[in-house]
Amino acid sequence: MENKKLTRKQAIIRRRIFILLCVVILALAAVLIGFIVSAVLKGGDSDKDNASSVLSSSAESSTVESSNTDSSSKENSSSDDTVSVDSTMQSIYDEYNLDPEYTNLLLVNGENPLPQDFDYEGNLSIIEDKYLCGSRNRMNSDVLPYITAMVEQAWEDGVELYILSPYRSYGTQQTLFENEVQKWIKTGMDRTSAENKAATVVARPGTSEHHTGLAADFNSVEDSFEQTEMFAWLKENAEDYGFIMRYSAEKQSITCVIHESWHWRFVGINAAKEINASGMCLEEYVEYISE
Ligand code: DAL
Ligand code: ZN
Repeated sequence: MENKKLTRKQAIIRRRIFILLCVVILALAAVLIGFIVSAVLKGGDSDKDNASSVLSSSAESSTVESSNTDSSSKENSSSDDTVSVDSTMQSIYDEYNLDPEYTNLLLVNGENPLPQDFDYEGNLSIIEDKYLCGSRNRMNSDVLPYITAMVEQAWEDGVELYILSPYRSYGTQQTLFENEVQKWIKTGMDRTSAENKAATVVARPGTSEHHTGLAADFNSVEDSFEQTEMFAWLKENAEDYGFIMRYSAEKQSITCVIHESWHWRFVGINAAKEINASGMCLEEYVEYISE
């Protein structure tokens, strides 16, 4: 009798231990599954793009302007973006009234010509002579303070940066393009091949960023510009004023334009920093943020 009681008690204890063990095992399995699921989700995010980690939320809230440079993205930029700015830059931003969140990502290239009804002269302002080293003297009005602040600061740093070619009309671009085409025709090329070759150096009229007043060539359109202190200064500082070097050899297969160390494009201060940090060219960046 005594023995029977003992065996029953032992059986109850064993059953309880078994149930307890099952509960512990189930809990551990649940924790493990949780870990695996969260790791898989994180992995999926980082596969999206190796540059995504350096792109802040402000990149995702940037506005791609598709038809008119007059419409700024000031209204659309998010106010909780926090990109740190040192006190020297902040005082320059205050002095020239520059907004780090102001963005213009208008994409103009061979595949994205300006619309037929684009208002070429709609939003241009005169650049003061002292900033120029050529006869062309107009820039997008909203971008004028950014480019003048940049040149002024280069001068402060002892660098003789000057604006050579900012806004160009359709007619001016047509002349430049035709000159380039003729150069290639003289080497024996047929017209179509000459035009295709020319377009890698001088954009076809209607497809140049210069029409928008958002881009400018500085000092000299020679390869040797890359060896100058002006180029070194731009490489180091242009993003602080919202400019990126638009055409690099590395991205020629995407931009279809040769390496141009002299051609700098305004995109906005935060956008320029994000684009440079990501290693993307404008085409890639615009596609990335529209995904
Ligand atoms: N050189 C650049 C591509 C232009 O003509 O716009
Ligand atoms: Zn240019």
